[in-house]
Amino acid sequence: MPAPLTGRPVISATGLFTPADSISNEELVASFNAFADRHNAAHADAIAAGEAEALPHSSVEFIEKASGIKARHVMSKAPILDPDVMCPRIPERGNDELSVMAEIGVAAARQALERAGRDAADVDAVLCAASNMQRAYPAMAIEIQQALGIDGFGFDMNVACSSATFGIQTAADYVRAGNARSVLVVSPEITSGHLNWRDRDSHFIFGDVATAVLVEDAAIAPKQHWEIVGTRLKTVFSNNIRNNFGFLNRAAPESAGDADKLFVQEGRKVFKEVVPMVAQMILEEAGRLGLDPEALRRLWLHQANAGMNRLISHKVLGHEASDDESPTVLDTYGNTSSAGSIIAFHQHSDDLSAGDIGLICSFGAGYSAGTVFVRKVS
Ligand code: COA
Repeated sequence: MPAPLTGRPVISATGLFTPADSISNEELVASFNAFADRHNAAHADAIAAGEAEALPHSSVEFIEKASGIKARHVMSKAPILDPDVMCPRIPERGNDELSVMAEIGVAAARQALERAGRDAADVDAVLCAASNMQRAYPAMAIEIQQALGIDGFGFDMNVACSSATFGIQTAADYVRAGNARSVLVVSPEITSGHLNWRDRDSHFIFGDVATAVLVEDAAIAPKQHWEIVGTRLKTVFSNNIRNNFGFLNRAAPESAGDADKLFVQEGRKVFKEVVPMVAQMILEEAGRLGLDPEALRRLWLHQANAGMNRLISHKVLGHEASDDESPTVLDTYGNTSSAGSIIAFHQHSDDLSAGDIGLICSFGAGYSAGTVFVRKVS
């Protein structure tokens, strides 16, 4: 007889897929500057006549100082660095082949299942929670479900950088309601496809990766797991991070190729507005759960900007956080959108002790933010 369900959600395990190739800031800036030089040479007359502005160089020092990013993994390195291309090149696959987004999602999901000792046949649902989907339909989640051999249901959800925490709350709610025992939240992020590599203000921001989180009822969880103490979601509309790519672009062909059909942001405003919003949200949720924020053992924050994380963790912990208290992965991964806080959790949670409480927290476009307080069990 299987143990009766408890309705208490836990994180049983996580998984991570990291593309083999990585681009350093030095390589990225050399490519951007070669592109800028070519552009300026091609438009030399117009620039000299004051009819066009020369493109300024990018700088390794600026990127590292402003963001904390030193490198990023990508699915397709050479074309991104080629000044004539500056975009990933990922050949289209046939309908009978696994799509590339599903492929990396499956790789992360398999690792999570393996670490939990879980057979895919025992999973009830797959949520593909990411900031870009490869196609409109069929859902990426259903393709991942099929590839893993899961009998149940799946659907896609997009809440930009907060997709994974929104996915975790959704999965936790299925468990709380008794509608599922075991739910995979998969976040394949091929952000190199939505990044404008010719835009000096943002060309350094993103990287590619896939993560998976297995959310389950405590009754069936492996001995070592993380109790989900509480989840909270928040959205506040903002135009400061936007991507106007969509199915109606072809209905307005005159602007279909404009820069706003890729990621665009007002980085300064995002920084200023999101830091206080997220810090307040964390403190309020800690209060609701009866937790002392200063006693949190670790913060696994969204990985967009080292300065944002420094400020948020200071407001939450009441002192400057050490690397141990607020680990960084954006230095080698860049901003991987929804996957960032999950990578941090995946790579920096094994050393915690039973009873330790930490926080997974995402924030980004929407604006959107999600908190998942977790307690280590055994
Ligand atoms: N190389 C060299 N100089 C650059 C540059 C580059 N690649 N990009 C911009 N600059 C210059 C700007 O032109 C500007 O020059 P000016 O002062 O002469 O006008 C100066 O550096 C500062 O630019 P600014 O855009 O204000 O930089 P910033 O300090 O705000 O840092 C971000 C930019 C994007 C790193 C930062 O705003 C940020 O991380 N914001 C958080 C938002 C975020 O990451 N969102 C992602 C989704 S969650």
